[in-house]
Amino acid sequence: MAAVAEQIVPVTLGERSYDIALYPGLLAEIGDRLSALGTASKVGIVTDRHVASRYLQAVLRSLRKAGYDPTPIILPPGERTKTLGTVARILDRLAQQKFERRSLLLALGGGVVGDITGFAAAIYQRGIPFVQVPTTLVAQVDSSVGGKTGVDHRLGKNLIGAFHQPRAVWIDPLTLRTLPRREWIAGLAEVIKYGIIADEEFFAFLEKEIPALLKLEEAPVMHAIKRSCEIKARVVAGDERESDRRRILNYGHTIGHALESLADYRGLIHGEAVGIGLVQEAELAYHMGLCRREVVERIRSVVQRAKLSEQVPRTSFASLWGAMQHDKKVLAGQVVGVWPVKIGEVVMRPIERQVCAAWFQNTQSRGIRPSNRRLSGKQAARRKASARR
Ligand SMILES: NC(=O)c1ccc[n+]([C@@H]2O[C@H](COP(=O)([O-])OP(=O)(O)OC[C@H]3O[C@@H](n4cnc5c(N)ncnc54)[C@H](O)[C@@H]3O)[C@@H](O)[C@H]2O)c1
Ligand SMILES: [Zn+2]
Repeated sequence: MAAVAEQIVPVTLGERSYDIALYPGLLAEIGDRLSALGTASKVGIVTDRHVASRYLQAVLRSLRKAGYDPTPIILPPGERTKTLGTVARILDRLAQQKFERRSLLLALGGGVVGDITGFAAAIYQRGIPFVQVPTTLVAQVDSSVGGKTGVDHRLGKNLIGAFHQPRAVWIDPLTLRTLPRREWIAGLAEVIKYGIIADEEFFAFLEKEIPALLKLEEAPVMHAIKRSCEIKARVVAGDERESDRRRILNYGHTIGHALESLADYRGLIHGEAVGIGLVQEAELAYHMGLCRREVVERIRSVVQRAKLSEQVPRTSFASLWGAMQHDKKVLAGQVVGVWPVKIGEVVMRPIERQVCAAWFQNTQSRGIRPSNRRLSGKQAARRKASARR
């Protein structure tokens, strides 16, 4: 990949503006890039064990070469680490090492590491700078951009958090080569989402290049990351605090989040649930009379070719509708979804229970009920208990 030129995507947010830099081999230059950024006295690298085993040494070497004495903080991998307890442990380390306002945190890892590190940076001494160095596709095209940071609570995902923009996002696409295939494919769901919500040309590119993306070919991978970041940056710049327009980024997530919570965050990883949501929310839009059949079929075809599932795991309508009520997009008791009117354009509208029920009936009668993704009795019981809360 080394022949590819560096790409820069600016995120324009007034005095909180920053650049996303995308460059194969960037990890080896982190020390110089940090010196150029100027501010840091002490540097902490927050990462997880999987990422540390592959990339921490290279980053430490680069930082030491540039004169830093970095403190690594290595977390257990996975969503279960995204808790206030982990944040407390990070804050302990920062305080012990006498980190101060000009110290900086580097988040080296996926969305879990990025969300935790950003939140720790947001609250330590009322806010210290941090830089995102995302190493999963989800993190490179989504979670590292936009300043949403936070952790999960026992009663809900991402329930605790803060807006805190990074000073920079440094993406080394070479890190994707070690990503488990399942994580790579799940990330493609978010990439496809950007085409649907904002850019028909990009969607057409994906229709053509999905096979190359599945093979991790360098030029289409660079383009997919860059275009996704541009779209996210544009939406975020228009609406930093998610009052309205930023909600279009939730396309695929009304059903996606509901399926994730029904599976108790075990059966499906986030992007897999979103992949199902991309197709099924297009089906719903068709049911609501908002788009033509062709729109649904184009989305279905890309999702299938990306090797993502489009099938709603077997469940009852009452549980699915109940889980959709828990989504953040519920306003005054209405589930407000994001619906494609054509590829590249979406609208936000509430959805009626009866319309959703008719769609659900249809998915079930068409035989979309794979038994391998069925919720276990324990998961269903837990789901019922949380619906009662
Ligand atoms: N803040 C936001 O705007 C935002 C947006 C989307 C998602 N998120 C959050 O992001 C999280 C999901 O992020 P994720 O999908 O990156 O998951 P993750 O951070 O759990 O990473 C997935 C797995 O891949 C491993 N990994 C990471 N990089 C690797 C690499 N280069 N090679 C090999 N293994 C690697 C990790 O150790 C982990 O096991 C969720 O907590 C979600 O809530 C936040
Ligand atoms: Zn998502």
